[in-house]
Amino acid sequence: MAGQIPQRFIDDLLARTDVVEIVGERVKLKKAGRNYAGLCPFHQEKSPSFTVSAEKQFYHCFGCGMHGNALRFLMAFDHLRFPEAVEQLASRLGLDVPREGGDDPRAQEREQRREEAVNLLELSASFFRERLAVAEGSEARAYLERRGLSPDVVREFGIGFAPDKWEALKRHLAERGISDAVQIEYGLLVHREDSGRSYDRFRNRVMFPIRDWKGRTIAFGGRVLGDAKPKYLNSPETPVFHKGRELYGLYEARQANARLERMLVVEGYMDVVALAQFGVRNACATLGTSLSEDHLQRLFRLVGEVVFCFDGDQAGRQAARRALETVLPSMIDGRQVRFLFLPEGEDPDTLIRREGAEAFENRVLCAAPLSEFLFDQAAEGRDLKHIEERERFVTTVLRALERLPEGVLKSLLLRELSQRTGVEQAHFQTLLARADKVSEGQALASPDTGPPSWEKAPSRGVSSGGGYGALGLVGRLLHLLVHEPGLVNRLPESLDWCPDDEGDGALCHEVVRLIRAGGYRNAQVLLAHFHGTPEGERLAWLARRELLMPRDARGAEVEGLVDGLRQRHSQRSPQEAIDALLARERQGERLSREERARLMTLLTELKGGAPPA
Ligand code: UTP
Ligand code: MN
Repeated sequence: MAGQIPQRFIDDLLARTDVVEIVGERVKLKKAGRNYAGLCPFHQEKSPSFTVSAEKQFYHCFGCGMHGNALRFLMAFDHLRFPEAVEQLASRLGLDVPREGGDDPRAQEREQRREEAVNLLELSASFFRERLAVAEGSEARAYLERRGLSPDVVREFGIGFAPDKWEALKRHLAERGISDAVQIEYGLLVHREDSGRSYDRFRNRVMFPIRDWKGRTIAFGGRVLGDAKPKYLNSPETPVFHKGRELYGLYEARQANARLERMLVVEGYMDVVALAQFGVRNACATLGTSLSEDHLQRLFRLVGEVVFCFDGDQAGRQAARRALETVLPSMIDGRQVRFLFLPEGEDPDTLIRREGAEAFENRVLCAAPLSEFLFDQAAEGRDLKHIEERERFVTTVLRALERLPEGVLKSLLLRELSQRTGVEQAHFQTLLARADKVSEGQALASPDTGPPSWEKAPSRGVSSGGGYGALGLVGRLLHLLVHEPGLVNRLPESLDWCPDDEGDGALCHEVVRLIRAGGYRNAQVLLAHFHGTPEGERLAWLARRELLMPRDARGAEVEGLVDGLRQRHSQRSPQEAIDALLARERQGERLSREERARLMTLLTELKGGAPPA
């Protein structure tokens, strides 16, 4: 985590910013007495109930209740996280955002290294662009032309060319004083252990820079000019690049649209670029990985609707099913997901060149809503005239519904299921309870498909008010600490009893570290530190959950919890671990997904051991 932004900087920033100006750039405002008024950008309305006060530096909507200062507005309107909104305001004033290493000098160092890395990667990106423009790049230019890319779109996406040499970039960067070690760390050089030599990773490839939300190059994708393998080479994971989080084209889409409402998710670099060239300016691509929860969070911070494009073949349908599994827990009210299947043998790049933008946009408009895809998928290969098949259909749908957060979508799907099967809706409630059991069994069998833990789907519990389920031992400890950080004094110095790889464990480690380092006296400061992150949501949820225990009993409770955790930690015999987990389950405690997975592993390790009925 980057260092914290000092509060006095934020105060200063707000003092130097006019909320009327910030809002006025995005919403049409009229002077109304001492205030300004306009149509609220956060809900549908015909007459203005949205007001902005220059005096109080505050906006407020009498219709929907949205309110706050300039930072809050930017966060809500531009879908920014808190630090991003601060950066935005600061850059208007030409200020750099200072970071406090505070308790963690490593954070400061990391931030500085990030800046250095970005410089290095920007240098590389310009190098590749130059190479494309000169004689050396003539073959690559011809290739891009053959693929139908216009010079404009090539420029806009910053596409370049890595020469067919072993040390072109290496030399270029070395002349600018950048060491091999750093080049290796950021994936530009490949280091051979055997010979000790290092050489350019990207050679004779068309280079696509991958940019972060600010437009800074953080990685590259490179395509061969011919049919050599691999077709695409991506930067490896580096301190600034995490494939499972980044989306190619997101920055360019944000640049091209004042207000984005819908994002398309396609498969490849070329798809994003071709769509952009034809005026479809809201596409992005995962980077050769399947869709992750991190991707989704990023998308839904930006837009309310996401349309996934898949090839029409078997592999495409499989990818779509995986995407469906991933999105279910994120489907809180107000979000929409649709699935677009392209004709076999086509991708968005070939299709839009063949059909044109309008036909493509029409396909997007007709893409199947999540509900339709879900039902189709559950009915696939089943003859619903037969009772047994219908029962399996219901089970499949219910299993999916079980993973959906409570909300309008879930009720609509239940109603639809009832209509399709002729079974009264009320019956599904009991079935849903049973599906709960079934899917827990499933999770045991394959942890990958089980319901995700809170880290992966924080919005779930927040929206439904209870989706986090019962608290485990670590959860209870965290609950206490959030309400009374001073209880940290009751913890032993070493935290080796606290599992850092399951449930709340990792967060608990972090919280204890922060409390110890910062001497936080109240939950607010702690929450502010995690603001805008899934951990922040988890902590906020714990903070809202009332702590009913009397003050003088809390210390003993903390110590009791530590003892419990210690005991669990020291249960090294698998049989004991199994017994402990099963006992907790029998007592009605709901095991976390990780715990169920562990139980499964333990059971399979004990040969022939099957879960008791
Ligand atoms: P595709 O094989 O579908 O290629 O890979 P494409 O996007 O249609 O590319 P063109 O049109 O042949 O140029 C889709 C995506 O999968 C990743 C890349 O992100 C690519 O854009 N990929 C593919 C790799 O990372 N490595 C590969 O070798 C191939
Ligand atoms: Mn293609």
